[in-house]
Amino acid sequence: MQLSHIIWSFFGILLAYNVKLYMDSKVQYDMKIEGNAITINLQGKSIGNSGLEVACKQFQDYVNVTRLEANFNLNGLTNVQTLLLTISRFKKLKELNLHIGNNPIDNSTASNIQALLIQLQNLESLSLGLDNLFTHQGRSQILKSISEMKKVHTLQISLINTDLGGNKIDMLLPLIEMRQLKSLELILMGCNITASSTKSLQTLLYKLPKLENLVLNLYGNRIMVDGIDDLSAGLYHQRQVKSLEIELYFNNITSNGTETLMGVTGQMINLTKLHIGLEFNYIEDKGAQYIATALGNLQHLDDLSINVASKNFGYLGYNAILQAIEKLPTLNSLQLIIGVNKCGPRGADLLKQVLFKQDKLKTLVLDYTENYIGDAGASFVGEGLMSQKKLEYLKLNLNFNSISDRGAVDVVKSIHSIKHQPKYIDLRLSQNKISDIASKEILRYVSDITKVVDYIELELLGTALTNSTRDDLIQNYKNLKNLNFIVDTIPPSYWDEQ
Ligand SMILES: *[C@@H]1O[C@H](CO)[C@@H](O)[C@H](O)[C@H]1NC(C)=O
Ligand SMILES: *[C@@H]1O[C@H](CO)[C@@H](O)[C@H](O)[C@H]1NC(C)=O
Ligand SMILES: *[C@@H]1O[C@H](CO)[C@@H](O)[C@H](O)[C@H]1NC(C)=O
Ligand SMILES: *[C@@H]1O[C@H](CO)[C@@H](O)[C@H](O)[C@H]1NC(C)=O
Ligand SMILES: *[C@@H]1O[C@H](CO)[C@@H](O)[C@H](O)[C@H]1NC(C)=O
Ligand SMILES: *[C@@H]1O[C@H](CO)[C@@H](O)[C@H](O)[C@H]1NC(C)=O
Ligand SMILES: *[C@@H]1O[C@H](CO)[C@@H](O)[C@H](O)[C@H]1NC(C)=O
Repeated sequence: MQLSHIIWSFFGILLAYNVKLYMDSKVQYDMKIEGNAITINLQGKSIGNSGLEVACKQFQDYVNVTRLEANFNLNGLTNVQTLLLTISRFKKLKELNLHIGNNPIDNSTASNIQALLIQLQNLESLSLGLDNLFTHQGRSQILKSISEMKKVHTLQISLINTDLGGNKIDMLLPLIEMRQLKSLELILMGCNITASSTKSLQTLLYKLPKLENLVLNLYGNRIMVDGIDDLSAGLYHQRQVKSLEIELYFNNITSNGTETLMGVTGQMINLTKLHIGLEFNYIEDKGAQYIATALGNLQHLDDLSINVASKNFGYLGYNAILQAIEKLPTLNSLQLIIGVNKCGPRGADLLKQVLFKQDKLKTLVLDYTENYIGDAGASFVGEGLMSQKKLEYLKLNLNFNSISDRGAVDVVKSIHSIKHQPKYIDLRLSQNKISDIASKEILRYVSDITKVVDYIELELLGTALTNSTRDDLIQNYKNLKNLNFIVDTIPPSYWDEQ
């Protein structure tokens, strides 16, 4: 049976099976079956064991499925045996994306997962989410089984909030047996990884075969400068990668750590995609200059994301990064997250110059939250946007920027007059002093834009609107189907004090 694009709404089924379940969770459950691919995402829906049984019944007969994506994170599950058994019958499975993290699943289930993996002999791509599950021993056994899967060339393992402190991180080392690996993604957020445990990451990166795609999400660990030295020494052996994502939020790597990390990144001259997350790392102006130097070597970059938000540097560092971006020859996608620094109107003017040069971006994400750009800065950003000739996806966050009516209207007017309108727009102007008159004008432009875009999102929280204008706006624009509009007010006294 060829089923294409059938969407099951679990609504009715669950209602029949378990009315209470539906009433408790107040959500719509859906599953998508397209050819031999099944996608089911029930993250955080509290379906419980009985809900899982219902879900399994819905797809258990599609024995020829080759691709299964199932997210059951955060569902209060204690027993997933039926799920594992159902999957084990899918003998043709090539791609499995199974996320069951953050459920109170019995620790002994680790061995059942191991048994499942052994049965899936045709698997080529595996993404396994085991956040906050099992004991160290159980996880180690699962990793061992994964390392024996000889056809898997694309691997993602998510172990968010799992203690990998000390030498527990060594449980990842069996992965070096996977000589066929082309892509590896390790999601190790909040895993208690310290400088001393990064030696194992170094060994891993050193011994792995040469990868094309590498993702290391080390968000919220304690890696610091010393850890970065080890990590960079490991990365040195993966200089051939074409795509690198490295997330180091809140690891205190400082400017010295940035120097080492960017030293090796700058040698990855064949990178087409680089996503680098250095939010909250005290990298300072000097660290930003190291980023800029590395970018100078990366002439094939197509997709660049830099997150250097949260008190990392001042204008000098910002300037260095922007100048480097301006010179990249083939950029299609740019994401620049520099919130809570001090780039000011001068920084916005520089951004404008960069956008004039980089005028063929398809994707542009700018998060300039709290950068004191003011009205002049907002107008500069708007002018920069108008230069874009191919934009499809635009996300602009100008929250907390001391913008008043003139700047806010300018930005929206500019977006309205981009010749090649992006299909998706997300604009945030919250916590700026925008008044009644300007907000009405903004909404007139926005509603006009909705005629030509697929979807537009506008956030106007904490502005200087009166309640009656807020209510009018909601009344007038709530029915525009491709506009999602969030608005509220704060007392005028707040703005008087500003
Ligand atoms: C699975 O594939 C086999 C052989 O290709 C076919 O005979 C069988 O009907 C298929 N089963 C389903 C449920 O599609
Ligand atoms: C699994 O083992 C860990 C460590 O011994 C324990 O803290 C946890 O409560 C156990 N989980 C379950 C669901 O029994
Ligand atoms: C972090 O790792 C250290 C060293 O192994 C260990 O002593 C400590 O208990 C771990 N902390 C947490 C919160 O897991
Ligand atoms: C980059 O690609 C070229 C051409 O394919 C290759 O010769 C070179 O070794 C690669 N450089 C690195 C650092 O892998
Ligand atoms: C960050 O690391 C430096 C040394 O590399 C240290 O002096 C400083 O206290 C650390 N800061 C924090 C907030 O941990
Ligand atoms: C950074 O490196 C320099 C030169 O090696 C050194 O003098 C300085 O103490 C280092 N700073 C930190 C915070 O480690
Ligand atoms: C405006 O609305 C807010 C939230 O709905 C409310 O708390 C506040 O009292 C209202 N202000 C006035 C002046 O009515």
